[in-house]
Amino acid sequence: MPKKIALISGITGQDGSYLAELLLSKKYIVHGIKRKSSSFNTSRLDHFFKNKDFFLHYGDVTDSLSVNSLVDKIRPDEIYNLAAQSHVSVSFDLPLYTSEVDALGTMRFLEAIKNLDLISKTKFYQASTSELFGKVREIPQNEETPFYPRSPYGVAKLFSFWSVINYREAYNIHASNGILFNHESPRRGETFVTRKITMAAAAISKGIQKDLYLGNLNAKRDWGHAKDFVEMMWLILQQKEPSDFVAATGKNYTVREFVEKAFKVVGIDIIFKGKGLDEVGISSSDGREIVKVNKNYFRPSEVDELIGDYSKAKRILKWEPKISLDSLVEEMVLNDIKLLEKN
Ligand code: NAP
Ligand code: GDD
Repeated sequence: MPKKIALISGITGQDGSYLAELLLSKKYIVHGIKRKSSSFNTSRLDHFFKNKDFFLHYGDVTDSLSVNSLVDKIRPDEIYNLAAQSHVSVSFDLPLYTSEVDALGTMRFLEAIKNLDLISKTKFYQASTSELFGKVREIPQNEETPFYPRSPYGVAKLFSFWSVINYREAYNIHASNGILFNHESPRRGETFVTRKITMAAAAISKGIQKDLYLGNLNAKRDWGHAKDFVEMMWLILQQKEPSDFVAATGKNYTVREFVEKAFKVVGIDIIFKGKGLDEVGISSSDGREIVKVNKNYFRPSEVDELIGDYSKAKRILKWEPKISLDSLVEEMVLNDIKLLEKN
């Protein structure tokens, strides 16, 4: 049997790198789209760069010509559209750019599949998100829960979510949404809250950093491991029928609890005192004020609580998350300590 060919947009990101690794282990030929950057942006791919079945192409999902010509040249069996301006907070500062990438980028792929006569060949995966649930209408959230996005990022992803369904119904494209709740890893971008915390725990334990400034400590998230979640992306495209699936762990924690867990890994017991902007996280052993609240990290509108119900994925895909939050936190903190020691 010839090897399957996959095209991944957003391959240089957290999920792209884990997904590429997974597909290469399954003997796919993997093509990835990377953006032109003035600095090196492929560090997450270093360890399999020399694999003979791995190819990188310059491209940008805001550029219809580049999307169209890459899809035409590669004619993939599977497209995973992971490219996004993925930072919710940044999307308030860059709403138009975020829409261009996160909304229209998706439609460029769907149009390419339709116009290049690839409907019967190419399956399409869209990186949808629990941010669609936003101001949640029910707890926990599943595939039937109404959406209420709370940011330009969420709104742009809503456009993509429905474009996928529309192209599926209108043109019979095998196009599916993975509605993924937050997932993290040692490869998580450094400005997302979990990585910001694990890097700070590592640096503070080494005496390199004094304190950590955060925003809303009360926000609750359902945090899983990216490795588990990319497996679900692949499973979705192996189904005969396209459909939309929630991927989550079914448990949620506050940002405050994540802080406590991360600092515990380095032997610092954090106790929170005070309220609102005056709340501080204190080291119980020596009274140091380690965690402080800064209003600059609050968002104009917040998603207070996310928790997913992944029973559809469990039933149909036989998918379940394997890695617990405690092991995820430990892996992230220990990796950040290793990085500090290396540098
Ligand atoms: P990430 O680390 O921020 O990666 C985003 C990727 O998109 C990077 O490779 C980035 O390239 C690329 N990209 C950005 N703009 C682009 C453009 N105009 N053209 C081509 N590529 C572009 O995000 P992630 O955490 O891996 O998430 C992957 C996808 O899943 C995203 O669509 C995100 O919105 C979605 N999602 C993530 C989560 C989560 O918790 N991680 C949950 C639900 C959904 P550079 O490296 O050059 O910046
Ligand atoms: N980034 C950040 N930085 N977030 C903070 C901070 C801080 O200093 N302090 C508190 N938070 C809170 C945010 O207000 C939010 O409620 C929560 O921590 C998580 O923020 P992020 O880690 O930035 O992730 P997110 O939930 O907004 O978005 C991520 O998950 C989505 C899926 O639900 C991203 O990966 C999105 O791309 C993804 O779609």
